[in-house]
Amino acid sequence: MAIPPATIEEVSAANDIVDVIGSYFPLKRAGTNFKALCPFHQEKTPSFTVSPQRQSFHCFGCGVGGSVFRFVMDYEHVDFPAAVQKLAARAGIRIVEERQSVDEDRQHEARRALLALHAEATEWFHQNLMKRDLGAPARAYLKARGITNEVARNWKLGFAPDGWTTFSDWAAGEGYRPAQLIASGLVKVRDETKPSGEFYDRFRGRLMFPINNDIGEVIAFSGRVLEPEATAAKYLNSPETPLFRKGQVLFGLHKTKRALIDAESAVICEGQLDLITLFEAGIANVVAPQGTAFTETQARVLKRYVREVILCFDADTAGQKAAERSLEALLENDLAVRVIEMPAGEDPDSLVRKSGSAAFNELVKNAREFFDFWLEKKTGTADLNSMREKMNVARELATTAAHVREPLLRGEVVNRMAARLGLPAAEFEKLVPRSEKRETERPEAREPKQNGTPPSHDVAMLCLLALRDDEARAFLQRQEWEEVVQKIPDGELLQKILRADLQPSEPASLVRFQTSLEAGEEATVSNWMLQKVPGDPAAVARGWWKGVAQQALRRDLEIAEGQLKLPNLTGGEIMQLQKQVLDLQKQLHEFHRLAADRAENS
Ligand code: CTP
Ligand code: MN
Repeated sequence: MAIPPATIEEVSAANDIVDVIGSYFPLKRAGTNFKALCPFHQEKTPSFTVSPQRQSFHCFGCGVGGSVFRFVMDYEHVDFPAAVQKLAARAGIRIVEERQSVDEDRQHEARRALLALHAEATEWFHQNLMKRDLGAPARAYLKARGITNEVARNWKLGFAPDGWTTFSDWAAGEGYRPAQLIASGLVKVRDETKPSGEFYDRFRGRLMFPINNDIGEVIAFSGRVLEPEATAAKYLNSPETPLFRKGQVLFGLHKTKRALIDAESAVICEGQLDLITLFEAGIANVVAPQGTAFTETQARVLKRYVREVILCFDADTAGQKAAERSLEALLENDLAVRVIEMPAGEDPDSLVRKSGSAAFNELVKNAREFFDFWLEKKTGTADLNSMREKMNVARELATTAAHVREPLLRGEVVNRMAARLGLPAAEFEKLVPRSEKRETERPEAREPKQNGTPPSHDVAMLCLLALRDDEARAFLQRQEWEEVVQKIPDGELLQKILRADLQPSEPASLVRFQTSLEAGEEATVSNWMLQKVPGDPAAVARGWWKGVAQQALRRDLEIAEGQLKLPNLTGGEIMQLQKQVLDLQKQLHEFHRLAADRAENS
């Protein structure tokens, strides 16, 4: 590991775990701790716990846990140095690294350079739009659409000039190399077979919408043409890059998080401008998957903030298709779904501009329960007197019903559908595809992270006390612990804990200690971090220590006695072993005598 321990402590001290985790998804206070639905496995009641005092998290459902660094590693799928870097940057701490592997260095540097390029490009596009002469057509477009300067500033809207290399020329002048520009997706090579050949700007003559990740870093762009009758695609997005995977981002989330949590409900609209208009009109609990259907990842992210979604897709067929394709992911994540039916030809942007936010709020209030809407849509035009048509519709509805995971809700949906179709519920039920395989298909239902095997109860108690209480720790360190701990079969973690330079009353030192552990060990430790420390910890430690020390002696005695039974021992060996046995018996005896004395004296 390349980062000095002092730096790790400094970074951990500057990044309160509740703030950090809370910046990814909402935490609810529960006594002295905070709770949330675990992001690492599928659950309905929160067992993911964060302790501000211990600066530690632990999920009592799937067993993951550890320090703020482990959280960032697991959540962002980055390695330890990257997690430290991220948190250091968040706190404005500069890291002087000792030395990293060349590979790590390079990957890391590449990512950082890409983020920097996106940040600088955002600013440049924005200045083009707000200030420069070449931005005049874009300013006129904004005005025509009723987007004020303030809104353009809030969302850092920009303008990509209408030249083949205006952006690349600027970026080259800023010191960005062609390879970086191409990796960002902002620049394309003219001939794919000659990656070092000529290249040109992907976004030309477009209004630019920065796309942020959930912590607000710009990771991609979406650009809209200005001319209504342009032949080019209306919207153009960054391609997939090391920073951007379209199906994982929800446009606007970095700004709308708070409102989502407060409302426990998300309005889902299709595009950037719909979202911006709604947000600026005070309807702030809104996200946009940007013209695609909801993916499993997006649904799972949303589930952390809300329990209900209100689909607000355009009334056009594309909008309806996107809504239909979103359903599976939403239902399977136990999100309640309601549907807003937009007046024909309107989208949220046009409706709010025409009729105001009150009109839109009214639509939200009256949004229909998804299954009612769906039933009506599917049965509305069908001739249910025809058995064949009835069965076709029934099969289609049954497929949708199968996505509902909650058994009670599914039962209700099945009954309603059957009743509407005029079929016996039991008969309709038979059409609902079996669902057991879905559970195992879900990525988060796979094997939980390696939990390690926690030590037996007595050793675990000693670990907990050595981690959590100064006096108990001091007591243990006064014992001949190295010798004893080495002998017990599950003593490895206790050994690490006692060897570490840590102070139970210093959370930062505990965090640093945890960074030295394997994920499984850290998960075990994070559990101890959240357990109650027993009263009079030093006395409790003494009690458990005695048991463990005795156990180690008995083990040695057993081994020595076993060896005495071996054939072909020399006289010297026998004498040596006999001496050992006597010695161990004496020590064990001493133990009992001491214990008896103590009992008498007290
Ligand atoms: N979209 C896209 N690529 C396209 C068209 C659309 O990525 N070629 C995405 C955009 O995120 C867009 C959303 O799908 O915002 C919805 O598309 P559409 O309804 O056609 O556009 P609007 O959001 O109404 O955009 P505008 O109001 O600017 O016309
Ligand atoms: Mn629109």
